[in-house]
Amino acid sequence: MVRRNEIFGISIVAIVCLLLIGFSQKDLSNYHRSHRYQQIELEESLRYNNNYSVPIPSIEDVISLQKTLIYRELNRYQFPAGDSLEDYTMSTGGKPVRTVVITTWRSGSTFLGDILNAVPGTFYHYEPLLEYDIVRIRGPPNAEPAVNTLKSLLKCNYSDLQSYLQYGMSHVYLFTHNTRLWDQCEQYPGYCWNSNFLNQFCKLFPFQSMKSVRLNLEVAEDLLEDKSLNVKVILLIRDPRGTLQSRKHRDWCPGKPDCDQPYNLCNDMVSDYRSAVKLKRRHSDRFRVLRYEDLSLNPQEIVQDLFEFLGLYFHSKVRRFLDSHTRFNIGGVSSTFRDSKSAPFHWKVDLNYTEIQTIEEVCEDAMKLWGYVRSKNASDVKDFKPLTTYEIV
Ligand SMILES: *[C@@H]1O[C@H](CO)[C@@H](O)[C@H](O)[C@H]1NC(C)=O
Ligand SMILES: *[C@@H]1O[C@H](CO)[C@@H](O)[C@H](O)[C@H]1NC(C)=O
Ligand SMILES: *[C@@H]1O[C@H](CO)[C@@H](O)[C@H](O)[C@H]1NC(C)=O
Ligand SMILES: *[C@@H]1O[C@H](CO)[C@@H](O)[C@H](O)[C@H]1NC(C)=O
Repeated sequence: MVRRNEIFGISIVAIVCLLLIGFSQKDLSNYHRSHRYQQIELEESLRYNNNYSVPIPSIEDVISLQKTLIYRELNRYQFPAGDSLEDYTMSTGGKPVRTVVITTWRSGSTFLGDILNAVPGTFYHYEPLLEYDIVRIRGPPNAEPAVNTLKSLLKCNYSDLQSYLQYGMSHVYLFTHNTRLWDQCEQYPGYCWNSNFLNQFCKLFPFQSMKSVRLNLEVAEDLLEDKSLNVKVILLIRDPRGTLQSRKHRDWCPGKPDCDQPYNLCNDMVSDYRSAVKLKRRHSDRFRVLRYEDLSLNPQEIVQDLFEFLGLYFHSKVRRFLDSHTRFNIGGVSSTFRDSKSAPFHWKVDLNYTEIQTIEEVCEDAMKLWGYVRSKNASDVKDFKPLTTYEIV
């Protein structure tokens, strides 16, 4: 009798336990389900800007989030003594550090642009003149609207840039290189091309950097003349043999005379040399020339020197970027992960001697001015040193 009661008791306890386990799992799965559902709902409402039951982060919310991100990112940034972030952000009436790289297609500007973008707190205006296509801007009629676009961007004024934004919506690489903006574009595509959002977002960043492959230096001089911009300009130069070799492999270049004709490239290089002489005299503290080959052979030292000129702190993130992008050959043709010491001289093995001679003949003046040495003969190419010194006088 006793034994039967015990068994009965144990059975009751066991059943209660099983029921409890069952309920708790049901609760748990309900919890998971509702939690997961809320998350999907939140994501969708952000994606489509629908209301559902969750409030949409407003433009002000995203701006305020980005402000926090910038503060965090600049935690270890050293501003010049006595300065703080607010002295550099337009949103607080400050003056940003503005840097513009002027160059041409396939001259190493992706590398230099990414070095600048590695600085925390950088807003990177990548190739703002993409909509002009593969065309060099040397004067009227394109020069004026092009320079006005650059000035508006450097002032974070998107109000009159409808065609720029329209182009960007269907060619997103206008923005993808601007990594800090693109992070938010991916989450809030509804705001990404909105000039009201961009005006506020851009003004949060203390460092405004830009690169363009389409402007002759003479046209870019307008930027230096605008005192309110206080911009610094870097002219990035590359050996025409290297530039033309690299362009051969881009499908957008052949057939476009400003891109595939050595004559046009080297005429522009001569014109840029003349402008450089003038700018060096008139704006010696805000204008610099840099050769891609020198940068590649000695990246750490050249970048430190360049940053001093620009007024940028050589942050550990920049050092790390250089370390990881200058030692090995990784990735495809557009990758900036490469052995920086051999990349500029790849033309030596990729061009045949007829091609080299053609470029050297057409580009004789440009090469002399910028310190590039002609080869003697076909067997000389492999081992000769193509670089010498140059002077801007
Ligand atoms: C979303 O909510 C706001 C107020 O919270 C309201 O003004 C707006 O009309 C709503 N939009 C839609 C599409 O329901
Ligand atoms: C933005 O640019 C437009 C013309 O390009 C000008 O009318 C407007 O005043 C500018 N806005 C600011 C805030 O500077
Ligand atoms: C050199 O390359 C060009 C263009 O790729 C080609 O047309 C030419 O035949 C080549 N010449 C020699 C000698 O291989
Ligand atoms: C090529 O040029 C180098 C350097 O000037 C010279 O030493 C060599 O003899 C030349 N070779 C031929 C085949 O002309």
